[in-house]
Amino acid sequence: MPVPFLDLKAQYLGIKPEIDAAIQGILDRTEFVTGPTVRAFEEAFAAAHGARFCATCNSGTAALHLMLWGLDIGSGDEVITAANTFMATAGGIKLAGASPRLADVRATDFNLDPHLVEAAITPRTKALLPVHLYGQLADMEPLAALAEKHGLLLLEDAAQAHLATLGGHCAGHWGRAAAFSFYPGKNLGAYGEGGAVLTNDEALYRRICRLRDHGMPAKYHHAEWGHNYRLEGLQGAVLGVKLPHLPAWTAARRQVAQWYGEELAGLPGILCPQELAGREHVYHLFVIRVTPESGTTRDALMARLQEAGIATGLHYPLPIHLQEAARDLGYARGDFPHTEVLAGEILSLPMYAELTREQVAEVGRRVRGACSPTVA
Ligand SMILES: Cc1ncc(COP(=O)(O)O)c(C=O)c1O
Repeated sequence: MPVPFLDLKAQYLGIKPEIDAAIQGILDRTEFVTGPTVRAFEEAFAAAHGARFCATCNSGTAALHLMLWGLDIGSGDEVITAANTFMATAGGIKLAGASPRLADVRATDFNLDPHLVEAAITPRTKALLPVHLYGQLADMEPLAALAEKHGLLLLEDAAQAHLATLGGHCAGHWGRAAAFSFYPGKNLGAYGEGGAVLTNDEALYRRICRLRDHGMPAKYHHAEWGHNYRLEGLQGAVLGVKLPHLPAWTAARRQVAQWYGEELAGLPGILCPQELAGREHVYHLFVIRVTPESGTTRDALMARLQEAGIATGLHYPLPIHLQEAARDLGYARGDFPHTEVLAGEILSLPMYAELTREQVAEVGRRVRGACSPTVA
């Protein structure tokens, strides 16, 4: 039984009449860029996360850039983020003109280790930018204490963490602002590119709204230099239809994660993701670790699954500090040992709301078949 990594068609078919009508509405109203549908989505997305303000934009990368730019973080400043993340987190810092400084992650939740963050702080550090990787919030309380102690801004890369909570609070509550992505494969995905910044800071919200639209507070009145980071009306319509379904889709992802846990329980060397205390993981990705005790390697397991028609992914195979583009950051192999070990052991299994119990059982069976544990 083939199991795709993601099935966006299945999701579309589940909501086709609503989506088709919403898209037709945008065409009928020629509401192509921003407009009332985008504004309605912004209000709903902020409310769903318990935030006061939402400024949409046309990618998660743009959201990261706008968040830093809106806070005047730029040339000469450093922003500390996780060594284990998608390149765009560091790329957003670069776009703002600042320099990314990396800190290692914990093997328990793949997120920033607050103990290691403190050592990375320098007199040029302006902000901490934890990433809520794979759909679980980072350790925000100690990071907030650290930010407070050193007079730094706390921000959030929530590109993978729609509706995820810590202590009952979503991203956007913990930092001055949080950046989200609506790339199609995200838990809440557009039918193209999209992103948003959530914040409770009205002044920051207004500045971001201006910067995303050529620095214009009013039409053809440019208060400052800006950019074109506006969200398309079609994407706002799609996101507005999908948002009310997100709690049910999140619950379905959590159910799939539980099934995987049952399927892979007791298999030596195959470590399932841990949901840490006080958190609600939204499983954007279900990332297992394939350690030597499994009797196989990550790459061998991936190949075996592929032969069986089961698609998997690597998030991410080459850490930021080892990327060619990041040579200017001055890091070397060995600088972030946890991230480097994880890069060789992680494997993302299929994860989406429409996965069935049978499909998960098939993945579990194939994983078991590929392992020959070295310990009983
Ligand atoms: C952790 C993280 N940060 C930032 C981004 C950038 O988002 P986008 O692809 O919408 O620019 C992504 C998404 O790909 C991501 O996963």
